[in-house]
Amino acid sequence: MLRFILGLIGAAFAGVLLISGFNTVSTFLSSEPERSAEHEFHKHPKHLALASNGPFGKYDKAQLQRGFQVYKEVCAACHGLHQVAFRDLAALGYSENAIKKIASDWAIEVPSVNPETGEAATRKAIPSDRFPSPYANETAGRAANNNAYPPDLSLMTKAREGGAAYVYSLLTGYTNQQGYKNEKGQELLKEFPSAKTPEGLHFNPYFPNLNIAMPQPIVSDGQVTYAEGNPAPTVDQMAKDVSAFLVWTAEPKLENRHRIGIVTVLFLLVGSFLGYLAYREIWAEAKRKVRVTGPLEAENQAKSRAAKDESGIAG
Ligand code: HEC
Repeated sequence: MLRFILGLIGAAFAGVLLISGFNTVSTFLSSEPERSAEHEFHKHPKHLALASNGPFGKYDKAQLQRGFQVYKEVCAACHGLHQVAFRDLAALGYSENAIKKIASDWAIEVPSVNPETGEAATRKAIPSDRFPSPYANETAGRAANNNAYPPDLSLMTKAREGGAAYVYSLLTGYTNQQGYKNEKGQELLKEFPSAKTPEGLHFNPYFPNLNIAMPQPIVSDGQVTYAEGNPAPTVDQMAKDVSAFLVWTAEPKLENRHRIGIVTVLFLLVGSFLGYLAYREIWAEAKRKVRVTGPLEAENQAKSRAAKDESGIAG
């Protein structure tokens, strides 16, 4: 009797679970997902063709130097590059003396200690220093930027979907929110009046939530004066160059990786070919033997069938 009652209780529980599970699934299937401005008006990065793209890609050093100049004159005011040291610039073609000068002229000094008093101080950078952040710490960075922290850019092109193309699109994507339409021709502020960019933020459809705390950093053609021999750059060109530079900071050894990749694939191809030849050599004899032995003659086939029948084996 007790068993019967316990069974009944168990069945009741299972029944309730089944009904609630069914309800959840049916509500999930029948209700429309909630609409959101971020989902309908966010843009995917534009296409960006860089010399370093693809398995055979190599850096365009002239472009990296231009990109470094944009970083130095524009981005360094707010963003550090903590994974990169001044002396790493040798890979972009700067001489030892040029690097020493870049380090000692750097607008932001590196943290240090006063040798006499032991108090915190700053000193001029030297080639073995990393690119310093303009802020002493995150709190100071937030305080200066409307409570948004300008992230370190060293690994930025690895940290965001789209990499360099995302950075390029972000830099060139600032636009007027008034009248902004998506590909379907819907107007943002008509569809979502509450999505108006708040005070202190800037509308940018490439930023995942559409409003970014960074003011447009590259605003006018010729904002950075490139070294002699380069034409006065457009906003688009500067954005491309600094994005290419940030691919390098995130992966200075990219060319090595590509080279090793190609050699490895060639090695594996040759290895596979040798393996195939070895296979042919080793199995040639065995295959010939099978052919020589061939199927059983009629008489022996009958014997084999009889033996199988006797021991009850099918086939
Ligand atoms: C006036 C200061 C300032 C300058 C100059 C500046 N940025 Fe920013 N940047 C910010 C702030 C603040 C954020 C954080 C934005 C946020 O989280 O809303 C940011 C964020 C970013 C991000 C990250 C966006 C993301 O997906 O999280 C990238 C990439 C970036 N900046 C690139 C650059 C580049 C490249 C330059 C130079 C061309 C530059 N910034 C110049 C302040 C600045």
